[in-house]
Amino acid sequence: MPVPKSDYLSDSWRDGLFTNKVVFCTGGAGTICSAQVRALVHLGADACIVGRNVEKTEAAAKDIATARPGSKVIGIGAVDVRKPDDLQKAADRCAKELGAIDFVIAGAAGNFLASINQLSVNAFKSVIDIDVLGSFNTLKATLPYLIESGKKHAVDSKSPKPSPLGPGGRIIFVSATIHYRTMPFQSHVAVAKAGIDALSHSVAIEFGPLGVTSNVIAPGPIGQTEGLERLLPSDTFESYMKSQPLGRLGTVRDIADATVYLFSDTGSYVTGQVLVVDGASWRMSAGSTTGGNLSYPDLLLSGQPVPNVKTGRRSKI
Ligand code: HXC
Repeated sequence: MPVPKSDYLSDSWRDGLFTNKVVFCTGGAGTICSAQVRALVHLGADACIVGRNVEKTEAAAKDIATARPGSKVIGIGAVDVRKPDDLQKAADRCAKELGAIDFVIAGAAGNFLASINQLSVNAFKSVIDIDVLGSFNTLKATLPYLIESGKKHAVDSKSPKPSPLGPGGRIIFVSATIHYRTMPFQSHVAVAKAGIDALSHSVAIEFGPLGVTSNVIAPGPIGQTEGLERLLPSDTFESYMKSQPLGRLGTVRDIADATVYLFSDTGSYVTGQVLVVDGASWRMSAGSTTGGNLSYPDLLLSGQPVPNVKTGRRSKI
């Protein structure tokens, strides 16, 4: 069903900004990434989204395609970012069917709240594998295409003027702000997101000379997302909102607008950066773990698991 434009894109951008551009996105069926891709498709891009769940990924692709009549959006399911071969096949198919990969969004992530005591080695590894290795695998699978696009869309360094073909050769890693101050029950995610940030910075300096830019978008608390469902216990919502400087949660449109900024000519000299889109949330205290049943350090001392959140834990039966 078509989503109203105002839900995922502000009026600041002109239609056709990304005509003839192709975006490849992992985690593209998720709430945040699908809005990022929907915005780019609305503005002219074609897209390929990949994910683990076949039905969900294919349905999301069809839905995103409604953002612009005539758009091509491919949904490739059964792709686990932990498996480099899955990603390589998906990236190659994207380039073959859509003609190129100009932009990449590495958005697949895993998260749940658990203390270090409650984390098994495999639980810690699962998040590191999805977030850090998954981002690395995404990068490796798409780099040849990004380099090709960067070359084709190079800014003339003498003038310096944007390419008449528009921008290309850009990657965004979706990270978080959790590791800036750290927070309890998020050691696995803090370590993973710090790794993603470091990877992006390395890409910026190693591939800048080849015309590729690399940046991080760090979303804060974004409403109606699986991430927030997993991180914010329902009984702490009110006290949490009081701690938010702008008095509201972020929206997926806030993240989509930041994506358009980085991928269009407005972002052509921005690389190796972290764009925090969080309403100054992280500058306040460590957020959700200050109230209700999550009182610090009471819950840690009790040894009980974190209550009232979607855990994401699979049933063993
Ligand atoms: C403790 C847990 C757990 C929990 C899973 N595990 N959930 N341990 N508390 N709540 C453990 C399991 O017991 C298992 O360890 C290990 O983690 C792997 O679990 P599986 O279910 O077998 O793994 P898998 O199917 O690969 O799933 C990965 C996952 C899952 C990360 C655990 O939650 C997932 O697929 N998530 C993807 C979607 C997601 O998380 N979206 C939110 C992203 S939001 P054992 O030892 O038992 O084998 C986000 C926002 C960041 O990233 C910050 C925003 C501000």
